[in-house]
Amino acid sequence: MQRRSVRETIDAVRRRAASALGGRVELDAARAELSAARAELDRRTHEVRRLRRRVRELEVTLLDDLPDSVSSVAHAVRTEHLTLLGARPLAELAQAVLDVEAQGVGGLMLECGTARGGSAIVMAAAKSPERLLSVHDVFGLIPPPTDEDGEDVHARYAKITAGEARGRGGEEYYGYRGDLYTEVHDSFARHGLPVETSGVRLVRGLFEDTVTGDEPVALAHLDGDWYASTRTCLERVAPRLVPGGRLVIDDYFAWSGCRKAVDEYLAEHDGLTREMHSRLHLVRR
Ligand SMILES: C[S@@+](CC[C@H](N)C(=O)[O-])C[C@H]1O[C@@H](n2cnc3c(N)ncnc32)[C@H](O)[C@@H]1O
Repeated sequence: MQRRSVRETIDAVRRRAASALGGRVELDAARAELSAARAELDRRTHEVRRLRRRVRELEVTLLDDLPDSVSSVAHAVRTEHLTLLGARPLAELAQAVLDVEAQGVGGLMLECGTARGGSAIVMAAAKSPERLLSVHDVFGLIPPPTDEDGEDVHARYAKITAGEARGRGGEEYYGYRGDLYTEVHDSFARHGLPVETSGVRLVRGLFEDTVTGDEPVALAHLDGDWYASTRTCLERVAPRLVPGGRLVIDDYFAWSGCRKAVDEYLAEHDGLTREMHSRLHLVRR
C-alpha cells in the first residue's frame, strides 16, 4: 500500500474536518429554519382559531335580523343545544320559511331528520300556524348507512354504535336518549309552539315508510345525513314541490352519501335550480 506524505495526510484531515463542520453548520441552519416554521405554524393556527371564533360570534347576530318571535326561539333552541345547525344555516332556514309565507307559496312544509327538534321548532316559529309542518324521524338511533355511503359516513356510524358519539355542548348524543319523541314533543310546547295547536305533526318511523302522500310541498328541510335517507326523500318530495317550492339539503357539503344522492338525482331529473347558501337549496322552476 502506498503511504501518504504527512502533508497529504494533513490536507485529507483538513478536508474531512471542513466537510464535517459544513454538514454541522447546515444541520444547525435547517434546525433553526424548522423551529421558525413551527413557531409560524403555531401563530397561524392560533390566528385561524381566533378568526373561526369571530366568524361564529358574528354569525349568531344573523339570528337577530329575523322577526323577534322567530329570533328569540332560534336563540333559545341553540342555548338548549336542541339543534346541530349553526347560527347561519338556522337563520337561512328560518328566512326560507318566512319567504314562502311572504310570497304565498302554497303547500305543506316538511322536515325529514329532526333529532332533538331544534330546526323544526324554528321552522314552526317562522311559519303560519295554518300551514302544516310534518316532522319525520325515527326518534331513536339513526338507521345504518349503506354501501352507497363513503368511508366518512361508515366511520361516523361506527363511532355512534360504539357509544362514543357526543351531542352538542357535550350533552348525551340524541340517538342514545330514552324517549326522543316525547322530548321533542315537549320541547315544541316549552318554546311556545305546542304541536297540537301550531299546525305541527310529529311522525315517527323510517322515511321509507312515513314520507308518503301526494300533497303539494312548499318547502322541505332534508336532514337525514346518509345516502338512502336523502335519496328516499328526494324521490318522495321533489316531485311534489310547487313552482317556487324549495328543498333545503342540510348535508350536501357534510356527508358523502348525501352528496352522491343529490348529484345522482339532479343528473336524472330536470326542473330544479341549485342555489348555494351555507346549505344547498334546490328550487322548483
Ligand atoms: C342530523 S340529525 C337532524 C338534526 C336536526 N335537524 C337539528 O336541528 O339538529 C338526522 C336525523 O335524521 C334521522 N334519520 C336519518 N335517516 C332516517 C330515516 N331513513 N328515517 C327516519 N329518520 C332518519 C336520524 O335518526 C336523526 O334524528
